[in-house]
Amino acid sequence: MHKLILGIETSCDETAASVYCSVDGVLSNPLFSQIDIQKQYGGVVPEVASRSHLEKITPIVQKALIKAGKTLNDIDVIAVTSRPGLPGSLLVGVCFAKALAWSVKKPLIGVNHLEGHVFSSFLQNDVPFPHLCLTASGGHTALYLVKGFGDYEVIGKTLDDAAGEAFDKVGKLVGLSYPAGPTIEKLAAKQEFKDFFQYPRGRKETLNFSFSGLKTAVLYDLVDRGVLDLKTKKILDINPTLQEQVASSLLVCINDVFIKKLKLALKAYPDVKAVTFVGGVACNQFITDNIAQFCEKQDMEFFSPTPRYCTDNAAMIAFVGNYMAKQHKFSDLTLDIFE
Ligand code: KG4
Ligand code: ZN
Repeated sequence: MHKLILGIETSCDETAASVYCSVDGVLSNPLFSQIDIQKQYGGVVPEVASRSHLEKITPIVQKALIKAGKTLNDIDVIAVTSRPGLPGSLLVGVCFAKALAWSVKKPLIGVNHLEGHVFSSFLQNDVPFPHLCLTASGGHTALYLVKGFGDYEVIGKTLDDAAGEAFDKVGKLVGLSYPAGPTIEKLAAKQEFKDFFQYPRGRKETLNFSFSGLKTAVLYDLVDRGVLDLKTKKILDINPTLQEQVASSLLVCINDVFIKKLKLALKAYPDVKAVTFVGGVACNQFITDNIAQFCEKQDMEFFSPTPRYCTDNAAMIAFVGNYMAKQHKFSDLTLDIFE
């Protein structure tokens, strides 16, 4: 039977809603991105984020329903991101979803944002189980062994910064605005993805990630080159070529780390049937192409969602809400953001 899920996502700086049909897939997926607002602060300011969610959540949910050609009465389940994320931002979505569920008498499901990312590849493909999922975003970087819907375990995670954070922080060091990831990819292409500075790749023998050493290595290298002032981290002098060379070396370094971890994980879990790459960093075509080539060599299927499903979105939350409903994993009105 057709089931319609309304998904709501407000964990960070995107206000998103989606109507997902259990048979026909994503019917609508509008979002409002706060990037232009947050850019002026050089990162996400939590207080600014929650105020913006409050302003946008009603029109975005309305837009999702209108685009899907549905009304609230047609919806079977309301799924909302309840963890992890910025508390003030999560609260806006969770309170909104609870009030909506209560007023139109629809069942409610609290969804883990990271589980949304892990299953985002299913919005476009049927991925076989078990598979490995590499999640890389601004807030998280982890490797999962995914055994079934809602059945997954972390087999490696970052011990400090996330990969997206490394792109954003190093980008800031060379004068790029937030979020720096997409700009770094463009600048790296100008230098044909060459590795100029051989930044450190971290420890090889573990499935865990660590990117803070990389950021520090870039910082000291830039200080040595007279680009940065060590105390204030202010840029003294930088030319566009050096900016591109740093971008290129950084991208190649992070790409190498990902490939090495996947190689290690495939050795440790020889039964996996596929690899997925998700989260905001998976928008990066250079890395996606490299992982695809690596998987082809290993005779392994590879899936990575289209960019609108890599970055934060509500379709992935609705998708998880759909199988959680089938598994009778409902929440009640006591649903909290720290559940
Ligand atoms: O998943 P996402 O939209 O939000 C979080 O949950 O964090 O990911 C945003 C992150 C940012 O750090 C951004 O710099 C990075 O994804 N990103 C990229 C690219 N596009 C976005 N990193 C590298 N290359 C890209 N093309
Ligand atoms: Zn995310």
